[in-house]
Amino acid sequence: MISKYIFGHPFDTEAVVEAVEIKSGCPETGTFDFSDGFCFTCPLEKEDRVYGLGGANRGINKRGYVYESDCSDNPNHHEDVRSLYAAHNFILLTGSRLVGLFFDYPSFMRFDIGYTRQDMLQVTCKEANLNLYVIEGDSPLDIIRQFRHSIGRSYIPPKFAFGFGQSRWGYKTREDFRTVVKKHREHHVPLDMVYMDIDYMQDYMDFTVNEENFPDFAGFVQEMKDEGVRMIPIIDAGVKIKEGYSVYEEGVEKGYFCQKEDGELFSAAVWPGYTHFPDVLNKEARAWFGDHYRFLVDQGIEGFWNDMNEPSIFYSEEGMKEAMELVAQIEEKGQENVPFFQMMGKLQSLSNSHEDYARFYHNVDGAMIRHDKVHNLFGYNMTRAAGEAFARMVPGKRFLLFSRSSYIGMHRYGGIWTGDNKSWWSHILLNLKMLPSLNMCGFLYVGADLGGFGCDTTRDLVLRWLALGVFTPLMRNHSALGTREQEFYQFEDPQDFAHVIGVRYRLIPYLYTAYMKAALTDDMMFKPLAFVYPEDEMAVRIEDQLMLGDECMIAPVYTQNADGRVVYLPERMMFVKFLPDGSLYTEIMEKGLHYVEVALNEVPLFIRENCCIPLADAAETVETLDTKHLSTVGFDGASFTVYDDDGFGMEYEDPGHYTTIK
Ligand code: NOJ
Repeated sequence: MISKYIFGHPFDTEAVVEAVEIKSGCPETGTFDFSDGFCFTCPLEKEDRVYGLGGANRGINKRGYVYESDCSDNPNHHEDVRSLYAAHNFILLTGSRLVGLFFDYPSFMRFDIGYTRQDMLQVTCKEANLNLYVIEGDSPLDIIRQFRHSIGRSYIPPKFAFGFGQSRWGYKTREDFRTVVKKHREHHVPLDMVYMDIDYMQDYMDFTVNEENFPDFAGFVQEMKDEGVRMIPIIDAGVKIKEGYSVYEEGVEKGYFCQKEDGELFSAAVWPGYTHFPDVLNKEARAWFGDHYRFLVDQGIEGFWNDMNEPSIFYSEEGMKEAMELVAQIEEKGQENVPFFQMMGKLQSLSNSHEDYARFYHNVDGAMIRHDKVHNLFGYNMTRAAGEAFARMVPGKRFLLFSRSSYIGMHRYGGIWTGDNKSWWSHILLNLKMLPSLNMCGFLYVGADLGGFGCDTTRDLVLRWLALGVFTPLMRNHSALGTREQEFYQFEDPQDFAHVIGVRYRLIPYLYTAYMKAALTDDMMFKPLAFVYPEDEMAVRIEDQLMLGDECMIAPVYTQNADGRVVYLPERMMFVKFLPDGSLYTEIMEKGLHYVEVALNEVPLFIRENCCIPLADAAETVETLDTKHLSTVGFDGASFTVYDDDGFGMEYEDPGHYTTIK
């Protein structure tokens, strides 16, 4: 049962789309204090665990730290970072009580989950203007299903998006992209997508293509398609300020960019230099921005990634002016008296500053809303702009779409990637831990930059990370400009990469089914073991293994120089290893702790008792995957119902999509 409590005058985020019973007063879940904004407090018993918060940092069980919903472009995902790119304000308490809480509030919100006091949960925000949804149910999964139902069906990508994608910030020319594709095909490393980072554009201007590097862009997109590869361009939030650039000129003329209080346009510097932000919270401006994707769709593009949409600001005109003034004052005082830390502090605080977020406004149905009050909705609505536009442009066809920043509600329009991680072993684990939390909040099409975005990677890190990425719906190797190149062909023994990525393709019938089932029944594709084995005290605490679908458990290796790992089996399971020669190693293992050996070029998987999963023969693209002739692996006598469709249409309910195999 879901109840809605309305406090003050909430902004309508459109996160919840189902009608929910409205109750007056305050729920009994905790205590409420409105003396200084909004403060919800509830005691935590020793046995209580707190889940949720989607794309937040740290563990699956969120207890013991403090998190802030404040969409931030922060590429340093250290353990103490309180806010990353997303604001997913759903938490689930289990232990002495069982309840789900969604604090639907689009601005800065703080979740102190046993941080200030180990025995206290406190959720606070500045203004008591929010909707609180309280969800009661029989089990964590029951609560999540109800919540997910209320926020609407999760985005379903085209089937090709389950293939492998190669990316790197720095590919510039047709030749760069052709090389990527050629190398994959030469070494029989499967590949379905190559991502185009900002350098494909002319001067980083959205909805343009550098004509010198891509003289016939549509022809090039088709050439790649003929190789079985789709090009997936990036779109950034800021529109470059440049006379003669039609997107800029049109936006100014129609009044579709965010303005300051005095009606002047707000200017923020990002990759292209100074930009204006499209006012994606304004319906007309959103439709206008979305319609621009047509420029690329008309040239054969079928997928996009939306970036820098927290929105990220390197510096604003105002911020830079203040900094320059400070530097001028310092200069006057002479070299001996340089207040180094003051100067550094000022320069560092230029980026993504809260002061800047309070300098511009959105026009929401005629009301001017200051950005900081709805900050967490920008990435959501930028992605919504694209999603709504695709539905208008090509009704009934699925597009690939994912975003960096998000709020609950965006899960209906696209997926997310988890932003600028690093080539650190600990980030494999962070990737794993985020998966169930994201699923709880509706985000199913998710994945991280495999191999790590920032820092120099190593071959073993890429292989181990890929062996987790094999299971995540978005499987993409992406890295930052200036870091060590990390395409498979930068390392020795390419056949190891061909094998590991090939395992992904063998698993697509299973993964696609698990995904569709989760999307169509509001289920989670990745669950904490605690949700499946709530009575098992050991399983309940596990943070480095996950349940996948209804049949599997995953336990990737995430430490360097390891030849395997300890794994806990909460029931009898079949340990399956995909060996480099294409064969399978299988062993039935009893419930309990085991050490399993896993070589760098192997992929481990565990199948639950009495279950089996389908396997295809490896293929180099999703389209060439033979889904008619599947084998199975798992327990004798088990059967599995496979979901399959044309991969593009939206007739998901057609019973013809299901086939049961033994
Ligand atoms: C930031 C994104 O997170 C990253 O993936 C991308 O490569 C850079 N922007 C450059 O566009």
